[in-house]
Amino acid sequence: MPATSQDNTPDVSAGTTVFVLNGPNLNLLGMREPAIYGSDTLDDIAGMLEDRARELGLHIDMRQSNHEGHLVDWLHEAQASGAKAVLINAGAYTHTSVALHDAIKAIRTPVIEIHLSNPHTREPFRHKSFVGMAAKGSIAGFGARSYLLGLEAAAGL
Ligand code: DQA
Repeated sequence: MPATSQDNTPDVSAGTTVFVLNGPNLNLLGMREPAIYGSDTLDDIAGMLEDRARELGLHIDMRQSNHEGHLVDWLHEAQASGAKAVLINAGAYTHTSVALHDAIKAIRTPVIEIHLSNPHTREPFRHKSFVGMAAKGSIAGFGARSYLLGLEAAAGL
């Protein structure tokens, strides 16, 4: 075999990285309808996840976008980068996005659906989840703790 100058150093964090994807309006957490979503900001939640991930020997890659296609691209990237799992709170796209449903089905990386509130106890238009229909499992209704419970679930996969 000829020697190459390629860097074949394996990315040691790949199999221990959990992508945490957040959809529309979640950048406003903390000030957005706090009676429903709580007073923690997305940065607060990222901090909690990073602390727990450290204890579990995992890494967090936390992202937020108000654009559906970004979430689709990041689901593909999770698989391409060898991520351990994806936690996704797709916000309102949960209830509308066939594209997210198809992206979750298209990758082998396990995807866990997360919600701060419990959509099933809210308006009827929130009762259908295109994300949940494709995800490995769903955690909803525990506020910021839903993310931590999702991380525990991901750690056990
Ligand atoms: C949410 C629930 C969705 O119905 C809503 O559109 C959101 C937040 C939650 O975390 O409870 O944006 O995903």
